[in-house]
Amino acid sequence: MASKLWEKNVKVDHDVEAYTVGLDREMDLYLAPFDVLGSMAHITMLQSIGLLEEKELKVLLKELRKIYKVAVSGEFEIEEGVEDVHSQVELMLTRSLGDIGKKIHSGRSRNDQVLVDLKLFIRSRIEDVAMAVKRLFDTLIGQSNRYKDVVIPGYTHLQVAMPSSFGLWFGAYAESLADDLTVLRAAYEVANRNPLGSAAGYGSSFPLNRAMTTKLLGFDSMAYNVVYAQMGRGKTERIVAQALAGIAATLSKLAFDACMFNSQNFGFIKLPDEFTTGSSIMPHKKNPDVFELTRAKCNKLQALPMEITLITNNLPSGYFRDLQLIKENFLPAFDSIIDIINMVDSMLSQVKVNTDVATDPRYKLMYSVEEVNRRVVEGTPFRDSYKQVGLEIEAGNFEPRYDINHTHEGSIGNLCNDEIAELFNSTLAKFDFNTYHEAFDKLINA
Ligand code: ARG
Repeated sequence: MASKLWEKNVKVDHDVEAYTVGLDREMDLYLAPFDVLGSMAHITMLQSIGLLEEKELKVLLKELRKIYKVAVSGEFEIEEGVEDVHSQVELMLTRSLGDIGKKIHSGRSRNDQVLVDLKLFIRSRIEDVAMAVKRLFDTLIGQSNRYKDVVIPGYTHLQVAMPSSFGLWFGAYAESLADDLTVLRAAYEVANRNPLGSAAGYGSSFPLNRAMTTKLLGFDSMAYNVVYAQMGRGKTERIVAQALAGIAATLSKLAFDACMFNSQNFGFIKLPDEFTTGSSIMPHKKNPDVFELTRAKCNKLQALPMEITLITNNLPSGYFRDLQLIKENFLPAFDSIIDIINMVDSMLSQVKVNTDVATDPRYKLMYSVEEVNRRVVEGTPFRDSYKQVGLEIEAGNFEPRYDINHTHEGSIGNLCNDEIAELFNSTLAKFDFNTYHEAFDKLINA
C-alpha cells in the first residue's frame, strides 16, 4: 500500500482515512489530465528559476506527457491507498524516475494544485457546454423560421390570452439561451485566472514566476493576491454553477411547455412515437417522459449553486477540507447539462407541429384584442372599442377575423431572428478558446 505524501511516523486510522478521502479517488479522475498539465507548467517554471536542472526537466516532462496520454485515454487509475490525483501523479513519477520525481512539489501545495486543476477543467468543460448550446440554439432558430407563420394561443395565467406562434415560441428559447451564454461567458472569465503559485494560500519564499505559468497554461491573467486566489476555491465553482443553472432554468421552462403542448388537451406538438414511453396498464399511453426528466434534471442542477453556497458559507479565508465536497456534484454537472441539451436538441429537431390550431373555435377569444385594435385603427377610441368587443363576447356573438398583422420588432410578423442570432454569435466569438488550446498544444507537443 502506498503511503501518504504527508505521512511521517504515525499511520492514519483506517476509518478516518476512508472518511476523509471519501469519493475523492473517483472525483479526481475528472481532473487528472489537467493536474498533469498544471505540473508541466509548474516544473517548467521551477527550472527557469533554478530549482530543477534542464535535463531533469526534460525527463520529467517526457514522463508527464506519457501520464497525460493515459489520463485522456480514460485509463488513468488512482491506486488503492493513494489519496488523490496529485499524490498519484507524484507517485508515478517517483516510481519511474526516482529522486527527480520528488523535486516537483517545491513551491506548491495540493491547495493550489486542485485550484488550478479545477480552473483548467472548468475552462475546457465550458467550451463543451457552449458548443452544445450553440447546436441547440441553431435548431431553435431554424424551427422558429420554419414555423414562423404557425399561430398558437399565447397564455397568461394559463388562460387563453393573445395570438402567439411557433415562430415566437422557438425563438423565445433561442434568445433566452443568448442571455444564458452571456452569463456563461462571465463565468468563463472568472475561471480563466491562474491561482498557481498561491501554494497553501499564502505564496512561497521561492521566487516563483507566476506570469510564466499563467502564460504556459493559457490563462487570461493570474489571480494575483495569494489569499484571494485560495478564496477562489468554492467561489469559482459557485459562479460557474450559477451559469449552468441559468441554462437549466431555460430548458426546464421549455420542458414544461413541451409536456403541456404535447398533451391531448393542447395538441400543439407531437413527439414521434419512438421518443415517447408507454404505460404498464393503459394501452393508449405515449408519455413525454423525456421532457419530464429534463425538467427534473434541470431543477436538480439549479440546486447546485445553493449547495455550493451552503458548503462555503461562513467559512473564513484560508483552505478547509470542506471544499473537497464541492467536487462531488459540481464535476459531473457538466456531463449532465450537456446530456440534457443534446436530448432537447434531438427532440426539438424532430417534433411535429400542429399547423391547424389557429382556427380551432376553442381559441376564438385570443383574437379579441386584434378586433379591438382594428376598430381603434378605424377611429373608435380604445376604451369604447374594448367595451364593444367585451359586450359582444359576453352576449356570445363575438366572431373573430383570423388575419393577424403584427409588425413591430420581436412580434409574430417580425421575429428579429437574425438579430438574435447576431447577439448569440457575437457572445460566442468572445470566448477565445484558442488561446488555451494553443498553450496546451505547446505543453503537450513541445
Ligand atoms: N482533496 C483535497 C481537496 O479537494 C486536496 C487538497 C488537500 N489539501 C489539504 N490541505 N488537505 O480539497
